[in-house]
Amino acid sequence: RGVAPKRGIKRIMTVRATTDAATPKPKPKAPQQMLVYSPPHPLIKHWLAILRSEYTPSPMFRSACSELGRLLIYEAVREFLPTMEQQVQTPLGAVADATLVDPSRPVKVIPILRAGLVLLEQSSQVIPFQETYHVGYVRDPATLQATSYLNKLPPQLSPDDLFLITDPMLATGGTIVKVVDDIVSRGGRPENVRVVAVVVAPPALKKLADRYPGLKVYTAMIDEQVDERGYIVPGLGDAGDRAYGTP
Ligand code: URA
Repeated sequence: RGVAPKRGIKRIMTVRATTDAATPKPKPKAPQQMLVYSPPHPLIKHWLAILRSEYTPSPMFRSACSELGRLLIYEAVREFLPTMEQQVQTPLGAVADATLVDPSRPVKVIPILRAGLVLLEQSSQVIPFQETYHVGYVRDPATLQATSYLNKLPPQLSPDDLFLITDPMLATGGTIVKVVDDIVSRGGRPENVRVVAVVVAPPALKKLADRYPGLKVYTAMIDEQVDERGYIVPGLGDAGDRAYGTP
């Protein structure tokens, strides 16, 4: 905060807290701003281009999406995974200081069905300790409102739990906001949530930032528009249909 953003990072939306005039004024705190990070990496650009092309067949679409998921998750867990310091014995009979991911705090990964599953396909190669909690929402094509049809999150979560949500497309933001609501209403903290998406659009980012300014979103691209059917433009079409070959 207060530091110029790195290349590829966009800080959006400033949310100011109000205080009661009668209470002594606390030291002004920098307002929280949601972080949207689009890593400037040629492989991320390459796989995004493959996903965007209407000529990419379903199996290739799916493998490109899972590869993008791996690259974005790698970035999302930087400075997120808890680590512990130990020593290991090497084959040379020497002892080396070692940093290991802490197995006592596995990341709770939450794929939003269907297409969020594809982004997670390679996540176990990136995150050594993880647990999976599937959630499913269906969007009404007329109202674009999202309704839950599956939620495998436990009824009680801890404020120390770490969450990674995957959903390839954040268009209007209706679904992703509800999934973060699901986490927070069970005791999780939005500061401990990372969202991984392939393409995001301004309406979703605004909705998320208004409600959860502490959130961090990792994406390959911020596109300009959402059309009247709720599709991101230029976008890449229906990610679930393309990944699973649904006609
Ligand atoms: N979901 C999709 O699959 N594609 C979009 O463009 C928007 C939402």
